[in-house]
Amino acid sequence: MKPKVFVTRVIPEEALNIIAGCCDYEVWESETQAVPRSVLEAKAEDVDGLYTLLTEKVDKPLLDIAPRLKVVSNMAVGFDNIDVDECTKRGILVCNTPGVLTETTADLAWALLMAAARRVTEAERFLRENKWTTWSPMLLTGMDVYGATLGIVGFGRIGQAVARRAKGFGMKVLYYSNTAKPDLEASMGVERATLEDLLRTSDFVSIHVPLTEETRGMIGWRELSMMKQTAVLVNTARGQVVDEQALCRALKEKRIFAAGLDVFDREPLPAGSPLRELDNVVLLPHIGSASVATRTKMAVMAARNLTQALSGERPEHIVNPEVLA
Ligand code: NAP
Ligand code: GLV
Repeated sequence: MKPKVFVTRVIPEEALNIIAGCCDYEVWESETQAVPRSVLEAKAEDVDGLYTLLTEKVDKPLLDIAPRLKVVSNMAVGFDNIDVDECTKRGILVCNTPGVLTETTADLAWALLMAAARRVTEAERFLRENKWTTWSPMLLTGMDVYGATLGIVGFGRIGQAVARRAKGFGMKVLYYSNTAKPDLEASMGVERATLEDLLRTSDFVSIHVPLTEETRGMIGWRELSMMKQTAVLVNTARGQVVDEQALCRALKEKRIFAAGLDVFDREPLPAGSPLRELDNVVLLPHIGSASVATRTKMAVMAARNLTQALSGERPEHIVNPEVLA
């Protein structure tokens, strides 16, 4: 008998073909609506594998009703939507898609950095709303990027890719991370800093830590208050790393110059979010890795991880390898 799999969204055909090759599968046939929890629960009851997106919460209550489950393959590098400890206790493999989305996500962090610094989306709205009456010396002036200091919080794959791009902009790069990276300091000319020093001295702060118990709320009012009044905050990591209420206040009171956000405390960003009222923030709907090529690679990688796990092979990317030890 083939293993049974539930795929929680429409995925590229290349990826689905990999699953179809060795599994009986069902797909939640929508691109615009996340699978309802009740449907996910009903499917989880008798599947061997779940192919999930970051919109699906794989928590203890779901695992409690999934006795056959052997693998959860997330089509994302982040896996904060999954209770990994509970999976590990049950011998369930958790897989993710690191690496293939690094450069694409770093590109988007830069798009946000540039847009927020130079007020690109605000200026476009201004033009479309027919407010452009004349050229004026200080109209829509922003902050310079070239030669500025960039502080990177979380110096892993994406953080480092963001730093590589900074070279072309003649920037000084500071990083704050769990561990020191002396080789990268030498080869890339970056400097390690405490979080406080990084916040106090950077013109741009870009966040690239995963969401964990340690990083939740890492950037709150206290940290925002340490930043320069001219500084720009970019977040492409996870919304909950930043205290959104505090950020809103900092932007409203012009305690910092601007922010560029791809991720939010609650996604989709609620209609009533006060962030929507502010001109000095660029808001994107979690599209960090959204290029055609990268999303296809992620989908294929997640399909391979899933089928490898279900056919007894070691998946290429495992979050909890101790399950196989
Ligand atoms: P990664 O290679 O694992 O890098 C994460 C870095 O964060 C690591 O270098 C780690 O430090 C550091 N870190 C972890 N906990 C920390 C803490 N408490 N204090 C300081 N540093 C800490 O991950 P990645 O591939 O770069 O991805 C990073 C995150 O980006 C993902 O987890 C995901 O949430 C997010 N993401 C978002 C999008 C999007 O669409 N917006 C796309 C891709 C990824 P050490 O190396 O020093 O241990
Ligand atoms: C996207 O947010 C990811 O973690 O891949």
